[in-house]
Amino acid sequence: MEAMEAILTRRSIRRYSGQPVEMETVYELLEAAMSAPSAGKEQPWQFVVVTERRLLNEIPNYHPHSSMVPGAALAILVCGELKREKYVGFWVQDCAAATQNILLAAHARGLGAVWLGIHPRQQRAEAIGRLFGLPGGVVPLCLIAIGHPAEKKPPPNRYDLTRIHYNKW
Ligand SMILES: Cc1cc2nc3c(=O)[nH]c(=O)nc-3n(C[C@H](O)[C@H](O)[C@H](O)COP(=O)(O)O)c2cc1C
Repeated sequence: MEAMEAILTRRSIRRYSGQPVEMETVYELLEAAMSAPSAGKEQPWQFVVVTERRLLNEIPNYHPHSSMVPGAALAILVCGELKREKYVGFWVQDCAAATQNILLAAHARGLGAVWLGIHPRQQRAEAIGRLFGLPGGVVPLCLIAIGHPAEKKPPPNRYDLTRIHYNKW
């Protein structure tokens, strides 16, 4: 799929067929994630690939908007490792760029995915951190649920000329 097509047609997919996702494809998604830009090339990301059904089933106990996760083939927890930051506070932007790359790569490979926000909700971050045994200084930004899509959505078409300003607001 061409890059612009992937960007303009990606949607959050929350229903999955149950078909497994090849590990080779998961590695492609992670390669896409790690190709993201980061402040000073600090690359503060760490990824937890979650394939255990027991863990996927537990997520809705700790995240209020995650009922689709038990139906997903897998999930990727995108984390920032704070000690890797060269420029304090930029880990969120770095990890968000990595997350968007995963969403786009998943879509380009015919998969469906959805971004579930964790940081900056402290309680959620602590509970998910405990569930996945994250060490201190590693903060979960989001969880991405991934699977073969069982729903189709139209392109978002959110282009809005009123949001564009030229030279000055
Ligand atoms: C920071 C962030 C947090 C999100 N958290 C959730 C979430 O917890 N649960 C969920 O179902 N979708 C979540 N989403 C997906 C949004 O609901 C979705 O992107 C938005 O409604 C636009 O729809 P689209 O992705 O299909 O274009 C999140 C998206 C972002 C960027």
